[in-house]
Amino acid sequence: MPAAPGVPPGARVAPSSPGTYNRVQTPKELPLTTSDPKAFAQAQSQAAEHPPYLWWAGRVTPWEDANVHLTMVGWSAISAVFEGIRAYWSPQREDLYVFRLDEHLKRFQQSIRFMRMKDPYGPEGIGGAICELFRANGYREDAYCQPLAYMGRTVPGYIAAEDIPAEVFITNRAAPSNLGQGKVLHCCVSSWARISDNVLPPRAKAITNYQNSRYVSNEARVNGYDAGIILNDRGKVAEGAYACIFIVRNGVAATPPITAGILESITRDSLIQMLGEMGIPVEQREIDRTELYLADEAFLCGTLMEIAAVASVDRYQLSNGAMGPVTQALESRFLQIVRGQDPKHQDWLTAVYAKATAAV
Ligand SMILES: Cc1ncc(COP(=O)(O)O)c(C=O)c1O
Repeated sequence: MPAAPGVPPGARVAPSSPGTYNRVQTPKELPLTTSDPKAFAQAQSQAAEHPPYLWWAGRVTPWEDANVHLTMVGWSAISAVFEGIRAYWSPQREDLYVFRLDEHLKRFQQSIRFMRMKDPYGPEGIGGAICELFRANGYREDAYCQPLAYMGRTVPGYIAAEDIPAEVFITNRAAPSNLGQGKVLHCCVSSWARISDNVLPPRAKAITNYQNSRYVSNEARVNGYDAGIILNDRGKVAEGAYACIFIVRNGVAATPPITAGILESITRDSLIQMLGEMGIPVEQREIDRTELYLADEAFLCGTLMEIAAVASVDRYQLSNGAMGPVTQALESRFLQIVRGQDPKHQDWLTAVYAKATAAV
């Protein structure tokens, strides 16, 4: 066909009707696929439901009013850091207890600082906002909260910048605890390696780090496992995709050290203290992959995951494949603590309704 007047030979001409030009499928038309349709449907319905309020730019804000311009969506996430915090409902005291709020606030500050952002609110401001938002949404059940700090309107997120005031938003949602249900996981050792301190430091709870977790988690799910365990750049056990790991061998618990490429987990710290109190020796040391296969018990732990027993690793069954005695004892003590029933660790809890931020 001869070229249209004024168009160089070989050049492509955009069709006159925009509707026919590389028409992009709308989300409704796209086939929805996943290796686990039930989990996918659940995640979708959770995303569709939301509480009336979130917290953004210094105040409790109606969910529908929290909008940013489309151009902000991509790059603002590159330096974004966040926290995942659980709150447990106590039916006896009719209060909601945020678990180890101070430690989460401290880690949030560290992550923000690490990204060379500045937190305009400070730990008290964010802590107060977290409790305020729980009250605004009226949670009287177990719930989960995510404060997230990002570089907002000021600069594109990929440019080197210092002391940029972070924009912060906080969301929360209902999240029933899985503690006490005897849940066990079949795990694999991932073929992906853990990001390392001189690549993308796992110590910062940065959004970008979670691509590593997604690779691990997707690989595990596609291959028929519940969760993946990641080895670090030295070939030693680091952690799970979204959780830290402990093994128990001959009555001694062990967990990789904080230099193994892990997030400095608040649950891990709590369990180390609790194991000590329960008279179970605990070592923070390097763990070989094959120790996972030979362990009497193993469990993953983290805020969202809580404590989840590992039944097998790479199809090597651990003991009888059920939750082991140490894991069981730890889990039941943890459940008492988070619900405010253990006098020893009341200072780990912040009461949302009673006295706002006073320990119970
Ligand atoms: C990669 C990773 N490691 C470990 C943990 C456990 O950390 P924490 O106990 O502070 O929730 C998490 C949970 O957020 C995580 O995402």
